[in-house]
Amino acid sequence: MTTPSLIPVKPEVAARTRIDSEAYARLYRESIDDNEGFWRREGQRVDWMRPYTQVKDVSFDASDLHIRWYADGQLNVSANCLDRHLEKRGDKTAIIWEPDNPADAPRHITYRQLHEEVCRFASALKAQGVGKGDRVTIYMPMVPEAAVAMLACARIGAMHSVVFGGFSPDSLASRIVDSGSRVVITADEGVRGGRAIPLKGNVDEALAQPGVDSVEKVIVVRRTGGRINWFEDRDLWYGDLIADASPDCPPEAMDAEAPLFMLYTSGSTGKPKGVLHTTGGYLVYVAMTHELVFDLREDDIFWCTADVGWITGHSYVVYGPLANGATTVMFEGVPNHPDVDRFWQVCDRHRVTILYTAPTAIRALMREGDEPVQRWRRDSIRLLGSVGEPINPEAWGWYYRVVGEERCPVVDTWWQTETGGILISPLPGATDLKPGSATRPLFGIQPALVDAEGRILEGATEGNLVLLDSWPGQMRTVYGDHQRFIDTYFKTYAGMYFTGDGCRRDEDGYYWITGRVDDVINVSGHRIGTAEVESALVAHAAVAEAAVVGFPHDIKGQGIYAFVTLTSDSQPSEDLRKELVQTVRACIGPIASPDHIQWAPGLPKTRSGKIMRRILRKIAANEHDQLGDISTLADPGVVEGLVNNRLIR
Ligand code: WT7
Repeated sequence: MTTPSLIPVKPEVAARTRIDSEAYARLYRESIDDNEGFWRREGQRVDWMRPYTQVKDVSFDASDLHIRWYADGQLNVSANCLDRHLEKRGDKTAIIWEPDNPADAPRHITYRQLHEEVCRFASALKAQGVGKGDRVTIYMPMVPEAAVAMLACARIGAMHSVVFGGFSPDSLASRIVDSGSRVVITADEGVRGGRAIPLKGNVDEALAQPGVDSVEKVIVVRRTGGRINWFEDRDLWYGDLIADASPDCPPEAMDAEAPLFMLYTSGSTGKPKGVLHTTGGYLVYVAMTHELVFDLREDDIFWCTADVGWITGHSYVVYGPLANGATTVMFEGVPNHPDVDRFWQVCDRHRVTILYTAPTAIRALMREGDEPVQRWRRDSIRLLGSVGEPINPEAWGWYYRVVGEERCPVVDTWWQTETGGILISPLPGATDLKPGSATRPLFGIQPALVDAEGRILEGATEGNLVLLDSWPGQMRTVYGDHQRFIDTYFKTYAGMYFTGDGCRRDEDGYYWITGRVDDVINVSGHRIGTAEVESALVAHAAVAEAAVVGFPHDIKGQGIYAFVTLTSDSQPSEDLRKELVQTVRACIGPIASPDHIQWAPGLPKTRSGKIMRRILRKIAANEHDQLGDISTLADPGVVEGLVNNRLIR
């Protein structure tokens, strides 16, 4: 079955949406011509405790970099996500929680209940001495208490740093140290795919490491009741705190530019960066994009399958939907447990109207065939979304035809942790779809393609994707390292924000993201820095040197391929290979496990000693017939050996 390469907007979809193609064209033009006027209006989406008079104060010039939005306004994110809905939507379900095990009961939490729980927990945090500007690490499974913890921090002006529950104690420790968190919020155990994850045990291990000394209290949600160690003067039960705390906790008035949260993400070099987002601009941006891209309506049941440990979970499980007074589904489990029809079962069970998931999940489910999908009706779904990595037209077509029965538009949304929210995406009533393309920029967004020298390319072409101007949801700094922010994003091409992505633009002005052009690998939509995996590998005594590259992977999009040179007194063996994988899992987490480790007696290097990853990428992709010029290598001979012993043929 083939999917057409152009799918026009369906008239019935256009008729019921706010924005049709003409409105898109007109509003887009206006949003660029009068950018400040556009954002001045959009800022009214949220409630301000002190109205803003200033809107935009931005310079992308590296010598004078600053990004400020609505700077003299004050507001509170939790008040916008909760209090302001109470009058009209107090009894509306805010969160539907679907547990890992479908035999367990789901939970429905109304806006009123969520408000009370957040207020109680915010009071409890305050009672522990947490206040404005303090950092709180949240290391939680996908349970409603994770959202409560985030909103409670926002209510009292503390910054949260959510660390994905799949990260190892080492990764957790380095994030706690970098953020200087005073409190860690966790659960006894997480549950995913029927397996328990020892979250509290991991926290204990992280906090026992030398140098991890900022944490005063660990707050533990009881999820499974599993056995855990308890440190009397440090550990507190979430349930006890909530029971004793006051339900009365007025929201702090926060400056628009006060930090809301940080979220660690991998770059091409060094340790993960704490991407910092602020209060006003972020909220305006996620509220706007969540409404427009998903064509939100009052009775929608919105399901974004991302974990709150990633930006997608922040912006489109918690903040966007709740700011808009929507019902958001929080799913604790995985797509293939207890069976590969789980997603569709959940859609029917909760009458999901909008499903937003990742290409890696779509590809994995596509492999199981159409039958598991057809076990369920899916008749409530009216819109499908994709995020996290390029979606290949085949997976797009399956999602569109089999899951959505050609009834539901598919919005392929391009964005990044750094961008806070979606920047390039179709609007369901306005944009003709092309499978595999994220299509066109949202309002106020000015993408451009540049060549290696930073010259802007016009028309149908391919280049590096940059953004020429700011938007309110843009990150403001790398926590604790502003220079790194400037160097990473604003120095490659002067006066522009560099995304790190390559991209093609076609004759209709549609954008086709081709993937990272830096040393970042996108594994199942998760960003992994090659440098991090390399430093984990060389931490093993047997490893002299390691070079890590991505390779095309049918399900994950990209897999991790490591070339490892051993020390002279070590021998390759299957046991050592396993040990190395284990080392990476311990240093970073299971998501960074190398798929392949190739023993490399030598690595291809330039005469100045720089590893030529371009060549390694070709070998890993089994494209060694396209190595290009290798004459500049210090020892061209090493390449032949690596090609002959390549692991993918
Ligand atoms: C990188 C950002 C945005 C939340 C999830 C990932 C890739 C993301 C798409 C898409 C092609 C995409 C890019 C980007 N990416 N969405 N729709 N089409 N590529 O956030 O971990 O910060 O990763 O994910 O390469 O730079 P992230």
